[in-house]
Amino acid sequence: MLKGKKILLGVTGSIAAYKSAMLVRLLVKQEAEVRVILTPSARDFVTPLTLATLSRNPVLSEFQQSQTGTWNNHVELGLWADAFIIAPASANTVAKLAHGLCDNLLLATYLSARCPVFLAPAMDLDMLAHPATQKNLSTLQAHGHRLIKTNFGELASGLTGDGRMAEPEEIVESLRQHFDSKKKLTGKRALVTAGPTYEALDPVRFISNHSSGKMGFAIAEALAEEGATVDLVSGPTTQQTHLPGITTHAVVSADDMAAACSRLFPSADITVLSAAVADYKPAVRADQKIKKTSDSLTLELTRTPDIAARLGEQKRPGQLLVGFALETENEVSNARKKLEAKNFDFIVLNSLNDSGAGFGGDTNQVRILHRTGDPAVFPLKPKREVARDIVQAILNHHA
Ligand code: PMT
Repeated sequence: MLKGKKILLGVTGSIAAYKSAMLVRLLVKQEAEVRVILTPSARDFVTPLTLATLSRNPVLSEFQQSQTGTWNNHVELGLWADAFIIAPASANTVAKLAHGLCDNLLLATYLSARCPVFLAPAMDLDMLAHPATQKNLSTLQAHGHRLIKTNFGELASGLTGDGRMAEPEEIVESLRQHFDSKKKLTGKRALVTAGPTYEALDPVRFISNHSSGKMGFAIAEALAEEGATVDLVSGPTTQQTHLPGITTHAVVSADDMAAACSRLFPSADITVLSAAVADYKPAVRADQKIKKTSDSLTLELTRTPDIAARLGEQKRPGQLLVGFALETENEVSNARKKLEAKNFDFIVLNSLNDSGAGFGGDTNQVRILHRTGDPAVFPLKPKREVARDIVQAILNHHA
């Protein structure tokens, strides 16, 4: 959920600082990159070694003086972060933040930060209820910072009331909601086809192609990372995905894939057809293994359903249909014909003449063709990056 996000955690002097260790662990588990700043008084409650070990990064507490005499690590940190969480935020730090004081690294970094700031206060109930604290918290909210509500319960003083820091899980959830709301395909449904199809000749043999499913799986993941709910219909493959938001539908033949797509297409806002569907299948599937009875064998093949053409006919206004073309000659003109014939909104062309493109490998080189205009030409890239380019083209189309 927080994969690749750069999270800066500021820890201040409060007994709730012990929970920062769990918070760092949860963030790292979500594959966030975490850096921690401790105020001097936070070091009385939690050790830098604990947080450095859990975050896998050195913990900062003081302005660094480099050999060149510069001491601006607070500016670097403030620009580096995608989000700055101050948890626990003590009454003292809340007051200093609200008034722009700057007598430690955490406060200086806060003043330099351009990213969203989250505050998880922790203090005794009367300190929290005091009008000065309430005013300071309101000031910080007015600055656009997110306040993560305190919980009611037993406090370090032995009193019971409001003032316990939110649990680490609640803080992570606030961050998740924040990053989700930034995703551009939240609320959209996507259908993606991937991999080859197997067209059975008999119980042991089939007709197929070299598709590994890598391109389609990468597209499904790129769509899910942008917030879409994805149905991934895949032919036989060793690829796997565990990203939340993706439901995988395993199919074998073109007929199976066509049936799954007919079921799922009506509710899809975005459909990307990257599967290498067999165009022909054996007219008859033998019940038993075909025996070697003569020197040659002639197979009769019949057409499989053209899934893309069917979906293109059914497409409603507002649905986006993206096709692929794998070509070996006259690439652009063949791709344009498919774009028109199958009623795609745009088509992604890959050519087996480009080394590193197409089947099997981890890279692809594509051109994206719209109904009008010149093709957009992309260099050879890892399939994960190609997938992100395709998602960007989808976003541009919607814009
Ligand atoms: O899986 P990888 O190893 O990562 O390889 C990726 C890939 C090379 C398979 C992929 O990048 C790709 O090019 N997929 C489309 C391959 C293909 O079969 O193209 P086509 O030109 O034959 O088909 C045109 C379009 O119609 C495609 O969107 C295809 O999914 C669709 N189609 C084709 C035949 C059919 N019966 N039904 C279809 O929906």
